[in-house]
Amino acid sequence: MDHVGQTVTLSGWVQRSRDMGGLTFLDLRDRYGLTQLSFNLSVNEALCMDARKLGREFVIQATGIVKERESKNAKMPTGDIEIEVTALKVLNAAQTPPFTIEENTDGGDELRMKYRYLDLRRETVRKKLELRHTLSKLTRTYLDKQSFIEVETPVLIKSTPEGARDFIVPSRLNPGEFYALPQSPQTFKQLLMVSGFDRYYQIVKCFRDEDLRADRQPEFTQIDCEMSFVERDDVLNTFEGLTKYLFKEIKGIDLPDFPRMSYDEAMSRYGIDKPDTRFGMEIKELNEQIAGTEFVVFKSVIDEGGLIGGICAEGCADNSRKQIDELTEWVKDPKRGMKGLVYVKWNSDGIKSSVDKFFTPDQLQAWMEAAGGKEGDMLLVLAGNKDKTQKALGELRLEMGKRLGLRDKPGFNPLWVVDFPLVEYVEEDGRYYAMHHPFTSPNPKDLHLMDTDPAAIRANAYDLVINGVEIGGGSIRIHDRGVQQKMFDLLGFTKAEAQEQFGFLMNAFEYGAPPHGGIAFGFDRLCAMFGGVESIRDFIAFPKNNAGRDVMIDAPSNVNPAQLDELGLNLA
Ligand code: AMO
Repeated sequence: MDHVGQTVTLSGWVQRSRDMGGLTFLDLRDRYGLTQLSFNLSVNEALCMDARKLGREFVIQATGIVKERESKNAKMPTGDIEIEVTALKVLNAAQTPPFTIEENTDGGDELRMKYRYLDLRRETVRKKLELRHTLSKLTRTYLDKQSFIEVETPVLIKSTPEGARDFIVPSRLNPGEFYALPQSPQTFKQLLMVSGFDRYYQIVKCFRDEDLRADRQPEFTQIDCEMSFVERDDVLNTFEGLTKYLFKEIKGIDLPDFPRMSYDEAMSRYGIDKPDTRFGMEIKELNEQIAGTEFVVFKSVIDEGGLIGGICAEGCADNSRKQIDELTEWVKDPKRGMKGLVYVKWNSDGIKSSVDKFFTPDQLQAWMEAAGGKEGDMLLVLAGNKDKTQKALGELRLEMGKRLGLRDKPGFNPLWVVDFPLVEYVEEDGRYYAMHHPFTSPNPKDLHLMDTDPAAIRANAYDLVINGVEIGGGSIRIHDRGVQQKMFDLLGFTKAEAQEQFGFLMNAFEYGAPPHGGIAFGFDRLCAMFGGVESIRDFIAFPKNNAGRDVMIDAPSNVNPAQLDELGLNLA
């Protein structure tokens, strides 16, 4: 309203036009929003006729006088005013776009991905990139104030067998040899610590050739950091500080101190290492209550040292047979691999369960109470191998949480998950794998287990989890050549393999490596968290689809055989 009476010139895109007899209105869109342009047939007929010829998405420049609107639009920030146009220039014509470029678009996912540059014109999508910009700007401000410096690390690096699959790049100058794109700048940031840089960060692209999901893209961005002369709590405090700062600046929320939970506790209470703590429905181990049973399924699980665990779904005692059958199939899916599902329903007319033959109502009520249940609730019980059952209960908890709307709860529940196992044993491969990565330091108290019980060693590693999403992860690193060599031994590398693949790092450790540690936040995930959605795609200007394709530029694609020849790759 401050501009009423002024002459202004605006440039932008025609979002829509309306002819109302003697008046024509156009909504002009630019990066800052919509402005209504008005053309009066009786004031300037030629101009009004020109305006009527403009199609959607024409690029125009309009000069006119700012007027107070007769009928104001409270939904638009500029809804109190309009521009009475006195001059109009068409800067570029446009074909009719393949979908409506408005809040509620008629374009499906694939179509909008193909014309991503048009989708980016929509306010909701543009706002997501603006949020990303603000988050990166604030991150830089915070880290800069804490004396971190941003250092770029190379993108053409060496392929290593650990972690996810690498994207590899053939080298023309070194026929038959390949670079890899970095899955993260892990070894480089450690080398920067050896170089004395003390506090490094980088907002950096990482590349992983893995199966894609809503929260995974093949190229994604990390806020990657490393610090020297620190212990775990220094890293946690610094990045808890960053997270709190971002929430305060962007959402005006003062987050309380983040709780810390061990991996073991997260697994036993929530069946997952990234618990969504916005709701309870925690896993309750029922082995003690059930001990001594003659019910053969439970008896054999107890005898074999397995787990019988339950979660209590609030208000679900009225679930139908069909709903329970569906859940039973769901837990039996090979992904979860459970043999079946036992239910106990506590209705006003008593307790009913699928194991009524084996347990008295008092026993069943005791299980329910142990799991925090009451009248009106339903207990779901799974039994089997401990790890598998814990995980299945964790998934069932999330599924029931989703069905009951508990995962849409407003608010943010951050926590640090700490004390991860250092390694996990994979039966099929007959070897240990690093849970985080091979550079993670074992908890010094557990070092003596290196030769006797590696699976019991806790790592000095930590993850930041918010609302069930792993936002970031890091660790205190090994900075001693001997320990690093031992770690590679444990992971089944021969001395020669370790030297060939990571010799550069182990050699560096012989030239005065400081104790160091760090963390990386998944920047796209952080953006999606602030944007209140699960999918990270919209926070990336030009994302890939779930098959890893960029459908707009049509990549990946074939290359010219001559290019392959040059690279020595023409196998035909
Ligand atoms: P990590 O592998 O845990 O650690 O990755 C850190 C964070 O990056 C995010 N992330 C992803 N985001 C989108 N798409 C993906 N494909 C993807 N993969 C990972 C997650 C994750 O928590 N170098 C170590 C960090 C360190 O030790 O300092 C690392 O990369 O939010």
